[in-house]
Amino acid sequence: MKNIKNSKKVFKQALKYMPGGVNSPVRSFSAVKEDPRFIKRSFGAYIEDIDNNIYIDYISSFGPLIFGHGKKEVINAAKKALDFGTTYGACHMKEVKLAKIISKLMPSMEMLRLTSSGTEATMSAIRAARGFTGKDKIIKFEGCYHGHIDHLLVSAGSGASTFGEAFSKGIPNDFIKNTLIANFNDLSQVKKIVDNNKDEIAAIIMEPIPANMGLVLPKNNFVQEIRKICDENQIVLIFDEVITGFRASLGGAEQYLKVKPDMSCIGKIIGGGFPIGAFGGKKEIMQNISPIGGVYHAGTLSGNPVAVSAGLATLNLLLHENRFLYEDIELKASKLKENILSEVKGICINQLGSMLTIFFTDNSPKNFDDVKKCNFKKFGKFFRFILNKGIMFPPSQFETIFVSSAHTEEDIIKTSEICINALKNLEIPN
Ligand SMILES: Cc1ncc(COP(=O)(O)O)c(C=O)c1O
Repeated sequence: MKNIKNSKKVFKQALKYMPGGVNSPVRSFSAVKEDPRFIKRSFGAYIEDIDNNIYIDYISSFGPLIFGHGKKEVINAAKKALDFGTTYGACHMKEVKLAKIISKLMPSMEMLRLTSSGTEATMSAIRAARGFTGKDKIIKFEGCYHGHIDHLLVSAGSGASTFGEAFSKGIPNDFIKNTLIANFNDLSQVKKIVDNNKDEIAAIIMEPIPANMGLVLPKNNFVQEIRKICDENQIVLIFDEVITGFRASLGGAEQYLKVKPDMSCIGKIIGGGFPIGAFGGKKEIMQNISPIGGVYHAGTLSGNPVAVSAGLATLNLLLHENRFLYEDIELKASKLKENILSEVKGICINQLGSMLTIFFTDNSPKNFDDVKKCNFKKFGKFFRFILNKGIMFPPSQFETIFVSSAHTEEDIIKTSEICINALKNLEIPN
């Protein structure tokens, strides 16, 4: 067992001052019945806790770190930006440069706005879609996560109802009455909801490749078919690519699936590890945003020069210097998958590009209901086993691991061996 004396001590203090001792719930490790590790530094593919334990990290800050931790060019760009100030509350050149690159790589974003988080991006995109269409209702998919926005913290209600229930306290029913819930990969259900709410639906928001119920893959041209439904019913299709943007491919899921949404939301990678988000879409929609239109959007730190500089450095590296990066990280993730599956039965691994989830179930989950049937006890046991051997996976069955260009072949071999060992030992009681 690893010594985590210092982490335990700090966690005790943290519990006094922060709910659950954390600033975001998944970090508490409560789902896997472990104590969180407090990190003192990170470098390349590794993070080190305050007890000097080093882990091969696959959380990758939940997505932004496509080059791993502390990429020199990204750090230098941020440091250099700091010499010119921390924030201006005024326009600067780099935000225009970043918008131009994003728009080129993700053609759905003809015009865009930078925000400080993915949550702000999705919230603003939905407002823009409602403002543009003059309609109120939206459809979201069970298990897709779009940030902690009141009207999106909704899961399926009981029985056949498509009206959801808030899964957080503190959300008035009025706030969620316009959010309709559908199952991912269930086209006929989406069609039915659209038919039952004719001319009332402003937008369908979806993670085109969901990564927040573990990694779930779209089946049978599901996303392409959703595109058609939106076209036929004047519904704004919003892709939430906060995770998949610049991750599923250089042009995100939009490029990977060859489906162009009307609006897209991104974040994570475009800030190189700094707080950022962006929403954008067709000019005719985006030209409704204030000050040229009536849909309000603003942000004190939107387009922050340090975050934008780190983002620019990241996208420039992806564009110009890492031609084989996507092949490389995909290969490593698929090796991890193949290595594990060649030795272990009774699990299922979904992988796309550098994203991967090991599900403790026999069949590949295709929606949230399937994921809920996984053996969470086994996942927890697996997580604790590998953590103790120096492998940091996200602490929940509902998350995705991220392979970065910093992971070496040796890291992948070591990770495969430890995972296989853990999985073969799962039948041993705690
Ligand atoms: C798909 C998706 N959308 C939106 C968000 C919210 O982004 P943020 O945490 O930056 O607010 C997340 C966060 O993980 C996400 O995965």
